[in-house]
Amino acid sequence: MTRKLFVTTALPYANAPFHIGHMMEYIQADIWVRFQRMQGHDVHFVGADDAHGAPIMIAAEKVGKTPQQFVAEIAAGRQQYLDGFHIAFDHWHSTDSPENTALAQDIYRALRDHADGSLITTKTIEQFYDPVKLMFLPDRYIKGECPKCGAKDQYGDSCEVCSAVYAPTDLKNPYSTLSGSTPVMKSSEHYFFKLSDPRCTAFLEQWTGGERLQSEVANKIREWFTKDEHGQGGLSDWDISRDAPYFGIEIPDAPGKYFYVWLDAPVGYLASLKSYFDLGKARARGEQRSFDDFINDPTVEQIHFIGKDITYFHTLFWPAMLQFSGRKVPDRVYAHGFITVHGGEKMSKSRGTGISPLKYLELGMNAEWLRYYIATKLSSKVEDIDFNPDDFVARVNSDLVGKYINIASRAAGFLTKRFAGRLSSDVGVEGRVLLDHLRSAHANIERLYDEREFGKALREVMLLADHVNEYVDQNKPWELAKKEGQDALLQDVCTVCIEAFRLLAIYLKPVLPALTAEVEAFLNIAPLVSADVHRALGAHTIGDYQHLMQRVDPKLLDALFEPPAAAVVEQPKPGGEDIAPTITIDDFTKIDLRIAKIVNCEHVEGSDKLLRLTLDVGEIDAAGQPRTRHVFSGIKGAYEPADLIGKLTVVVANLAPRKMKFGISEGMVLAAGHADGKTQPGVYVLEPGLGATPGMRVR
Ligand code: 2FM
Ligand code: ZN
Repeated sequence: MTRKLFVTTALPYANAPFHIGHMMEYIQADIWVRFQRMQGHDVHFVGADDAHGAPIMIAAEKVGKTPQQFVAEIAAGRQQYLDGFHIAFDHWHSTDSPENTALAQDIYRALRDHADGSLITTKTIEQFYDPVKLMFLPDRYIKGECPKCGAKDQYGDSCEVCSAVYAPTDLKNPYSTLSGSTPVMKSSEHYFFKLSDPRCTAFLEQWTGGERLQSEVANKIREWFTKDEHGQGGLSDWDISRDAPYFGIEIPDAPGKYFYVWLDAPVGYLASLKSYFDLGKARARGEQRSFDDFINDPTVEQIHFIGKDITYFHTLFWPAMLQFSGRKVPDRVYAHGFITVHGGEKMSKSRGTGISPLKYLELGMNAEWLRYYIATKLSSKVEDIDFNPDDFVARVNSDLVGKYINIASRAAGFLTKRFAGRLSSDVGVEGRVLLDHLRSAHANIERLYDEREFGKALREVMLLADHVNEYVDQNKPWELAKKEGQDALLQDVCTVCIEAFRLLAIYLKPVLPALTAEVEAFLNIAPLVSADVHRALGAHTIGDYQHLMQRVDPKLLDALFEPPAAAVVEQPKPGGEDIAPTITIDDFTKIDLRIAKIVNCEHVEGSDKLLRLTLDVGEIDAAGQPRTRHVFSGIKGAYEPADLIGKLTVVVANLAPRKMKFGISEGMVLAAGHADGKTQPGVYVLEPGLGATPGMRVR
C-alpha cells in the first residue's frame, strides 16, 4: 500500500540563521523522507519560518526595521543552507502569512464555539508592565536584584549567583531590560485554552497511548497530565493571548489581543502545506486533491520531527487544538536529542561555540560527510549525539571512502580499460552467493530506516561492504589482470564488485543523495529506488569512473574549530608604534564593532591579568532571551570591576569565540595602550560618546 505522508520539521524562529542543531533535525527528516520516496510512498515535506512573537518584534525594533522586513531578511538566507546540505523540502513558508492567519483564526473559532461547550475561557491576570515602552513585559525582559542573595541584574525566574528560584514579582528593584524603567503591575484580560477540561484529558490519554510517541516521550507526558492521588497536578489551562503591541495574529473577537506565538506556530505546518497545495506544487508531486481533501483524509499520515525541548507543545497543546477544532490529529511525533560538540556542552542556540554550518560549507567540506556522520549517530531514541572530530574523520575516511567508494574504484578501471565498460551477463557461484547475501539484507535495512535507526542501518551496510572487500581481497583482480587467459574471470569479479556497489548505493542513497546521483551517472542507470535490489544489471555497459569522493583532510576540522590567530606582540618603538599595513575598507567592514554595556564585571580566580566582563550587545537569542556575552579582558591591572559596571564600551562582536583557561571568551573589548605595557603601563577602555546604545554598530 502506498503511504501518503505529510512530514514537517519544527519551524525555526526567524531571528537567526540556522545552527548545527537545525541542520541535524533537517538531515534526520530528509533521510527519512528520501527513504520513504525510494519505497514508492507519496511524501509532502514542508517547513516554514516561525515569525511571530515579542522577541522578534523587539529584535526588529532594535535594528530599526519592521518585523516583516526583519523576518524576510532571515528567510532570504535560508536556502543556501538547505541546498548546501541537500535538504529537499518541497516548500518553505512563514507563519506570518494569510494562510496561517486564516487557519489559526478558524481553529480558534472552532474551539470557542465547540458544540459540547466552549474550550476557550478568559481570566484577568496581573503582570509587569513597562510604563515607558507601554507594553506588558515577558518575564525574560525583567531583571532585578536576587531576593535571596541580593546579586544585581538577575533574571525574573532564578539567580545565576546563588541559584535561588523565584517569581519575577519577588525581584528587588526590578527593571525592564527594554527601557531600564521600573515596571508596574497592571491587569489585563487573557484568553485561555481549557486544557484542564475533562474532554482534553480523556482525549490526550488516548492519543498519547499506542504507537504515536516514543516510549520515553509517552512516559514523560503521562506524568504531566496525570493527577496524583490528592487530585494535584494534571494539565492547566493554557494562556493563548498577548496584548498589543505584539507581532502576531489578532484574535477574531478581541481587539488588541493577539495569539501567543506558540498557538500559531504549529498551525504554520498546515499553513505551509496549504500554500504548497495552492501553488500547485502538490499536483506536481502527483497529488490531485485540494488541501482540504488531502488533510481530511484519515489515511494521510501527519508526522512531525521535533527537538526534545518542545515535546510539551507538540504532544499536548497541538493535538488537542486539532482534535477539538474537528481536524486531523498528528499520527507521529518523533523527538530527537541535542547535538553536542566534542563531548562538550549542548550546542546552544545562543552561544557561538558550535560548528557553523555555513563555515563548514565555505571551507569546501563535503555536505554528505556530515550527513553520513550524523546518520551514523542517529537512532529512534531521544538521545543527544556528540560531534567528535576524530570520529568524524574515521567514519568518513575508513568507512564511507575506505569501504564503500573503494569497491567501485577497485573494479571500474579494469572494466573500462579491458572490456570497454561491459559487465559479464552471468557471474560465478561465489559472486552470486555474495550478491544474494547483499540482496537478502534489504528487508532488515529498510525496516531500520523506517524506524529511524539510521546508525544501525549504516552499520549493516558497512558490514556488507566488508564482505565485498573480502571478496575482492580473495579474488585479487589486480593479479588476474596480469595473468594470461584470465580475462573472463577478471570481468566476472569486477562485475560482482560493480553489482555489489550498486546494491550498497541503493542502501546509502537516502543519506547520500548527491553522491548517488553521480554513482547513477557512472553506472549509466536510472535513479535508484528500493525495488532495484531485486534487479540485476546483466550485460550492461557502465560509464567512465571518476573519483566519487575525497577523504577528509583532518586539517579541515582544525579549521572548522579554529580559534582566532593569536595577536602578534609588537616590539616597543620609541615615539609610538608604526601604523599597521594598509587595509581596504572591505577589510575593515569585516570587523563588526558594537556598542556594549558592561552589565557585570568580576575578578577571575587564579588570573592576575584578566577581568571577566558580562556584556549586553543588544542581542536576543533564538529562544527570545536577551543574551549577554562573556568576554575576558586583560585589564585587571588598570581597573577595579566596580569602575566598569554600567559603562558603555566597544566590542569586536564577530570575533570567533575563544576557549580560554577560565572559560569561553565571546569577543574582545577595545582598549588603548602602548605596545609594551611593561615599560609604558596604562590601559584605557574605549567609551562611546553620549547617546550611543548597546548593539549600535561602530563604523
Ligand atoms: O523552538 C522553536 O524554535 C520554535 N520556533 C519551534 C516551533 S515548532 C512549531 F510549532 F512551529
Ligand atoms: Zn541570588
